Amino acid sequence: MGRLVICDHPLIQHKVTFLRDKNTDTKQFRELVEELSTLLAYEITRDIPLETVTVETPVAIAEGRVIAGRMLGLVPILRAGLGMVDGMLKLLPSAKVGHIGLQRDPETLKPTEYYVSLPSDVTERELIVLDPMLATGGSANAAIDILKKRNCRPTKLVCLIAAPEGVEAVRAEHPDIDIYVAALDERLNEHGYIVPGLGDAGDRMFGTK
Ligand code: PRP
Ligand code: URA
Repeated sequence: MGRLVICDHPLIQHKVTFLRDKNTDTKQFRELVEELSTLLAYEITRDIPLETVTVETPVAIAEGRVIAGRMLGLVPILRAGLGMVDGMLKLLPSAKVGHIGLQRDPETLKPTEYYVSLPSDVTERELIVLDPMLATGGSANAAIDILKKRNCRPTKLVCLIAAPEGVEAVRAEHPDIDIYVAALDERLNEHGYIVPGLGDAGDRMFGTK
């Protein structure tokens, strides 16, 4: 079974609290999503393989470790996942970026696919799926399905706020995926919104509605 990692570093908890606040405006919201994504990039790369090299310091030869040439890809789920890309790229500058557009129907809560664009060498990369919100899990499961059907290798799902229902749904359909979240909330409400959550991430990020 893939891991569920709750990234509760004090800096992450602090920023999530301001992200939730309904008085946080669009500009601050975007900045917080970007900063949180950089902090999460640090957490999700803890298991990245290293190789040993030697360098010459001004004093002597030193043995050190560097990242072992790993090929990564980031796949944000549009729209809200877009806000996580730049923050991740700060620490993972060589990653390529694919996009999957999904829109959740407000009544059925089922996602509809409207766009898929992936890097040309996507099957050679380990893929990290990005979406700030994991509610019913329908969108995350659909995105992972889309990637697997194209012979891609998604390994991690990174979210800011998750509901237990969404975590269970992804674990049931894709038990091979590691899930990283900044906060695991109480539940979903009758409209499929995370409680307490932060409201509609896409609307808050782009100023719609
Ligand atoms: C939101 C959010 C996730 C999805 C989560 O997107 O960004 O993609 O809902 O819900 P789920 O786990 O129940 O599928 P939405 O479909 O509202 O689109 P948007 O990002 O364009 O606002
Ligand atoms: N999508 C959001 O943006 N927020 C929620 O709480 C649930 C789905």
